[in-house]
This record gives sequence, structure tokens and C-alpha cells, in this order.
Amino acid sequence: MAILDKHAVLEKNATLLLVFSLLVVTVGGIVEIAPLFYLENTIEDVEGVRPYSPLEMEGRNIYIREGCYVCHSQMIRPMRDEVERYGHYSLAAESQYDHPFQWGSKRTGPDLARVGGRYSDEWHVDHLVNPQSVVPESVMPKYGYLLDRPLDGRYIGDVLRTNRTVGVPYTDEQIELAVADFKSQADPDAMVFEDSDPDGVVERYPGAQVRNFDGQPQVTEMDALIAYMQMLGTLVDFSEFEQTPGDWIR
Ligand code: HEC
Repeated sequence: MAILDKHAVLEKNATLLLVFSLLVVTVGGIVEIAPLFYLENTIEDVEGVRPYSPLEMEGRNIYIREGCYVCHSQMIRPMRDEVERYGHYSLAAESQYDHPFQWGSKRTGPDLARVGGRYSDEWHVDHLVNPQSVVPESVMPKYGYLLDRPLDGRYIGDVLRTNRTVGVPYTDEQIELAVADFKSQADPDAMVFEDSDPDGVVERYPGAQVRNFDGQPQVTEMDALIAYMQMLGTLVDFSEFEQTPGDWIR
């Protein structure tokens, strides 16, 4: 009883109650927040996750410019219906190098976090040129003009450098070779680049897919966007992860 009696003193004195409440909140706050200042990273590293290659990064910028995120999310939630439809739920590490992240909050179209490899490049070209030709009831707009917009990647080194200032670990070599890597990933047959070739791209960006994505001789915005689509969700080997229905929220 004694301790309850003492507590009654607090409950009957508003000022005292306020002072002690503040004290409790302060201690609680420090306990929660202070450790975060001593952690370098709150994201668990996951094998396979790497910064975007220059071509993928350009595709990501086009994705943002075109507002694809208005209709598409990139975050698979740990719910049974989502995991069964889209694949393993998204890990924090998978958007570790996204500035800004593309989780999204609206799904007029499907989630795209793991769309990589689900369709052929030709399918993507057909779908972006005229979505209704592949999915008649689709409300997605047409993006055929991307085929007519050539890219030379002249600014991509600056984009990588900017990402480095916000913490993406691009190396000096990656930044230096950005334009060359950009071209060799989309146009592997050209072989005119002194410092970069398709093998170099894969070495610097493990798992990067090197090919002509849109089937046209010149490198276009379509190449970059499809390169980005085709890598989404492909970096982590999920056969190594055990996922049981107990992990999901049902
Ligand atoms: C107005 C909303 C809207 C916008 C904007 C939009 N989409 Fe879509 N998207 C959809 C809808 C609806 C579907 C499902 C029907 C279909 O496949 O066309 C879809 C489907 C897709 C698919 C197939 C996904 C799957 O798993 O089947 C891809 C890939 C895609 N969109 C990419 C894009 C890209 C890239 C952009 C931006 C250049 C974009 N979308 C912009 C509405 C949109």
C-alpha cells in the first residue's frame, strides 16, 4: 500500500505529476534514441545488393521523371496475398541505395519491386509503346516516345557523384568510367570504349544485365528504362532465404 500512497501524492499534485511525467518521457526517449547515434547503419546488409549501374540509374531517373511511381509501388508487404503474387517481401536493404526510395503508396498497377526477369525485353517494349496491346483493359499511358529519345549518358557521372554525397558507395573508378559503362551495358557489340567493356560492367556491377534492351541500334531512354525494370528485385538470391508462411501476416 505504501508505494500506492506515495503515488497518490503525485496524482493529486498537477505540477508534480507534470514534472515526473516529463522525467519518464525523457528517460524513455533517451533509451530509445541514443543507441541510434552509435549505429553506423540501421539496415542489415544483404548479399547481392549493390549500387545501380549507370544505365540502371538513368532508367530509374526516367521512371521518376515519367511519374511511374504514381501508379506503381515498389514494396512488397509481408502479407500472404502479396507474397504469393509478387514474391518474397521487400527487405530494407533492397532500397538501401534508393535516393529517393520508390516504395510508393498507390497501386493502380501492380507492385514492380520484383518485376525483373518476369517478362522479355520485347514484352516491355510492346507494353510501354502500347499497354493496351498486351493487356486490353489496361489504363496505363503509352510511352512509345522513349524509343525516339537517344541518350549518350553525358551527365551520368554527375548523377553517380551526387548519389555518393548522400552515401551511396560509388568508387572513383565507377564514377570515372560511368559514361563508358553506360554505353557498354546498352550496346555491348559496339566495343569502341577503351576503358570499359561488358565484362568490366559486370565486374563493377555484379549481376548487371548487358545487352541491347530495346532492339534499336542507338541507345535510347527505352533501353535505360527496360534495363532498370529488368534488374528490379533480381539482386538478392532468395533461394538462400527460408520463408515460411509463419513469416507472413495472414
Ligand atoms: C495511370 C497509371 C499508370 C502509370 C502512370 C504507369 N502504369 Fe504501369 N501499369 C498500370 C496498370 C493498370 C498496369 C496493369 C495492366 C498492364 O499490364 O498494363 C500496369 C502494368 C505495368 C507493368 C507490368 C507489371 C506486371 O507485373 O505485370 C509494368 C512493367 C509497368 N506497368 C511499368 C510502368 C512504367 C515503367 C511506367 C512509367 C514509364 C508505368 N508503368 C506507368 C498503370 C500505370
